[in-house]
Amino acid sequence: MNNDFFQNKRVLVCCGAGGVGKTTLSAALAIQAARLGRRVLVVTIDPSKRLAESLGISRNAEAPVALSKERLKELGIEAPGALSAWMLDPQLICDNCVHRIIRDPAEAKKLLSNRIYRNVTAMVAGMQEYTAVEALHEFIKEDAYDLVVLDTPPSRNALRFLEAPSRAMAFLDKRIFSLFVPGEGSRVRQMAIFLIEKVMDMAFGADTRRDLQVFFQLFGNILGHLNHNQGEMRQFFQEDSVGFLLVTSPEREALNEARYFEIKTRDELHLHLCGYILNRSLAWVLKRPMPGETPPEGASEALKSAWPHFQKLALQEQATAMTHQKLADELKSRTGFVAISPILPGGVSDLERLSLLSQTLFEEPQHA
Ligand SMILES: Nc1ncnc2c1ncn2[C@@H]1O[C@H](COP(=O)(O)OP(=O)(O)O)[C@@H](O)[C@H]1O
Ligand SMILES: [Mg+2]
Repeated sequence: MNNDFFQNKRVLVCCGAGGVGKTTLSAALAIQAARLGRRVLVVTIDPSKRLAESLGISRNAEAPVALSKERLKELGIEAPGALSAWMLDPQLICDNCVHRIIRDPAEAKKLLSNRIYRNVTAMVAGMQEYTAVEALHEFIKEDAYDLVVLDTPPSRNALRFLEAPSRAMAFLDKRIFSLFVPGEGSRVRQMAIFLIEKVMDMAFGADTRRDLQVFFQLFGNILGHLNHNQGEMRQFFQEDSVGFLLVTSPEREALNEARYFEIKTRDELHLHLCGYILNRSLAWVLKRPMPGETPPEGASEALKSAWPHFQKLALQEQATAMTHQKLADELKSRTGFVAISPILPGGVSDLERLSLLSQTLFEEPQHA
């Protein structure tokens, strides 16, 4: 199966609806790429506790963690292949960004503890995603990894930071900022500010007004930085070396969401779409022989009487499998690539199962 993107991409971004398997498949893809000899970093957003433990990562880690030799061995990864994992906490990264830009620790702390900052960074379009991606950009530039596999949050907002013109920037207009920042300008302006303060004190109370002022004063610096870098980042994501993979399950809702991402990435944002991963698919069932018309010789009475039910179930399963295969063919014809990953009963949270999933992911496609 054609998985050239492991060799010729530097970043692979997994997009799709919530719960389709983005986090799981990001890890599985990273494992497979490392098996092929690449030095890989997988950045997950919201792994289950067990998955995080399996990869040996924890929340709030400041930097990626390399998988131990034992884990690599268990996964069949040999040098030069290597795998590191990082659980990304967008708010933490955003806070780090504040520390980087506002050099004075006291000032930075003032902004970080500001109530408005806390609410605004969660609300402003793409702010957290943007700063998170900016942190990744550093790794890519540093050349510590050949490939970064990037998981995305469980929502359409995953790509907000790449949209132009950015709503974040429109919201954070500097001219609005300056109105709230006291202590500068002509007497008329000072007067205006005085009046604004009075009105705001009445509307929100003096505490909130002061919080707002501190926020606007300090956040202006962050805004300048983001404005400066956003264009560069957008350009970076449009480069040929950055590929987008759409993860979907065969359910209608997930497919609609994936279609949304397909149009968004390829047609609106002009990003490089590598294709689809159809997760939780039954298509592999087509490889399996069907039960015969009659039960095997020597079958017990119980098996004999249950046989028609087995057959019926097998036929139903085969019909679903054929629908999934047709779906996979359709996704391939639209984007040029599809990988089919089977549904593993009991979920995928330990290394053994991840390893299995990453292997089956690139097996030859099923015959129709
Ligand atoms: N192919 C699969 N077979 C069985 N369970 C799966 C499969 N892919 C994902 N899962 C399970 O589904 C749940 C959601 O997967 P996850 O990767 O967290 O989705 P997302 O990141 O898209 O929200 C997890 O419990 C995961 O173990
Ligand atoms: Mg996830």
